[in-house]
Amino acid sequence: MTDLYHRKMSSSPESFAHFLKSQGPVFWAEAEQIWVLTDHELAQGVLKSPDFSADRSSFFMAKISGCPFAKVSNFFGVVKKMMVTSDPPHHTARRRLGNSGITDHILDRFLPQVDAVVNELINQLPRTFSFDFVEKVALPLPNIVLADLFSIPTDKRKDFYLWSNHMTQFFGGASDNLELDAFNADSGAAHLRDYFKQLMQERREQPQDDFISHLLRSQGSLDDDEVVSQAAIMLVAGTVTTTDQICNNLHTFLQNNIWRDLVQNPGLLEKAIEEATRLDPSVNFIFRIAKKDMTLNGASIKAGQLVFVANHAVNRDDNVFTKPHEFVLNRDRNPHLSYGAGIHYCLGARLGRIQMQRLFTRLLQDFPDLSLDTSQVSLRKHQSLAFSGFENLHLTTESL
Ligand code: HEM
Repeated sequence: MTDLYHRKMSSSPESFAHFLKSQGPVFWAEAEQIWVLTDHELAQGVLKSPDFSADRSSFFMAKISGCPFAKVSNFFGVVKKMMVTSDPPHHTARRRLGNSGITDHILDRFLPQVDAVVNELINQLPRTFSFDFVEKVALPLPNIVLADLFSIPTDKRKDFYLWSNHMTQFFGGASDNLELDAFNADSGAAHLRDYFKQLMQERREQPQDDFISHLLRSQGSLDDDEVVSQAAIMLVAGTVTTTDQICNNLHTFLQNNIWRDLVQNPGLLEKAIEEATRLDPSVNFIFRIAKKDMTLNGASIKAGQLVFVANHAVNRDDNVFTKPHEFVLNRDRNPHLSYGAGIHYCLGARLGRIQMQRLFTRLLQDFPDLSLDTSQVSLRKHQSLAFSGFENLHLTTESL
């Protein structure tokens, strides 16, 4: 049987969803040695159940089984205290800490800074030529936004992006050169940890209105390493996911001729973003580890086995969504799982949505005739089973 990764890479989101659904609500993927869930109710049940753990260190250990562990000890040191790899009670305290730096109140005050970044990126776009949207907009936007949220000084930003991107690459992707990726991830983690510790010292002396200062105010009995890990997860979880979701959504709008409708009725944008996020999720598998032997819809799951929620299929479950494969611009209820569910529900979902809302609003105004540039090939990314996005997305416009 073809492995899931190659099947995903050679399919559209819709045909991959059809394939997954055809395998049943729970199936064993032999090549990957994982259970896969395609049913919305079962998936939500697993994501909300205390019988499944989010501590995925063993998965990373298996991934680097060829590398001596010492090579990635810095990476592990940072990852093991992140909220996303913790179960309660640690998760509860770490999430509360991370949340203190990205509350609704903080984000409300941060909106003008998001707008400023969007404006700067859109203003430099060519008005008459075709351009690669990934390089010009989708990649820089979340990186700059997070550097702003952290008040990283201009002269440190290049390093900051590099370290966090090296960690993210190892966290999410498969790789052609595992040893090099492991080396970069480990060195990125060590640099980022040391830099955050230095920043913590500076902010203790002179607090600012930024992410680290907010975390220090709420630190309580948590140690400094836990502050570092919650800062690092914001970068690892908040950059590539947003870049990819922006591209997937814009591609979906343009491919389904939704752009014109949105130009005429921008009030529908919020629902359109959710609908596109349902149909082409950037996080297409979310996984957990079974804590004990159990039966799920007739499948015998053993303690320690990996259970993957297949968002492509779950988000198109016809028990939950009418016309599941269609783009329904005015969909009333849209309980897709693209931001997860349960206690690990995406902490940055609002910030992700804000960036998309602000960016697409500006693009609709400036580029009402935007379309896919079919004279060039726009490639889907090809280094990960769990994440989906575009390597490049060539667009063209005739707005001037
Ligand atoms: C549109 C873009 C985004 C998508 C599609 C997305 C998706 C997800 C998903 C599916 C999860 C659940 C992971 C799991 O259950 O194992 C998650 C968790 C998380 N996300 Fe996002 N995310 C996005 C943007 C962001 C941003 C902008 C940030 C922060 C700046 C962020 C921070 C986090 C954090 C900290 C977690 C872990 C929460 C926890 O473990 O309690 N995400 N995200």
